[in-house]
Amino acid sequence: MSNPPRLIVATRNAHKTEEIRAILGNRFEVLDATAFPEFPEIEETGQTFLENARLKAEGISRQIDGWVLSDDSGLEVDALGGAPGVWSSSFGGEEGNHGKNNERLLREMAGKTDRGARFRCTMVLARDGKERANFSGTVEGTLVDALRGAGGFGYDPLFIPEGHERTFAELGDEVKNSLSHRSRALAKVTDWLEVHF
Ligand code: IMP
Repeated sequence: MSNPPRLIVATRNAHKTEEIRAILGNRFEVLDATAFPEFPEIEETGQTFLENARLKAEGISRQIDGWVLSDDSGLEVDALGGAPGVWSSSFGGEEGNHGKNNERLLREMAGKTDRGARFRCTMVLARDGKERANFSGTVEGTLVDALRGAGGFGYDPLFIPEGHERTFAELGDEVKNSLSHRSRALAKVTDWLEVHF
């Protein structure tokens, strides 16, 4: 049997890679920054998920040979006018500090009756420094007023997806990966790859 095709995920976020690996199963060999000492650091200077996803996929695929998949994602909160959006990972003041991000979100949502929010994920596939296609997925839901559950990462303990009563962090990986913004974007990626790979 031949080896599955390789997909290089343009991230240092192990949670994202794990979810992508779990969703794709054994159809692809999923690698990320940990497999490449020369993995470049890409500054996310874009104003939209698509701009940042492009910067990451094109930047990495300029340096590393093969198909590169980026994921730029975040939480949009209706009562906060769509914030934190593309700034989700540094909302609490420190890049990638999920505890501080959740603290700030709880503070800003205190007393708000409109609890609507969505996770959004934009993915770009690139090769040789050029975008080949892009895809998006969203999941609608509501925010709770205290952390609930230990699974997932980021804002998962505060987000209940539509049609459920527990947060992503309480529902666990299998349920999250069956309906998340990431899995919805990834379903479109795999459809595209089946035609073009
Ligand atoms: P990025 O690495 O710039 O795409 O930032 C993604 C940020 O959005 C993460 O650091 C989290 O704060 C948030 N985020 C994205 N996807 C998820 C998810 O599936 N669950 C919880 N938080 C997420």
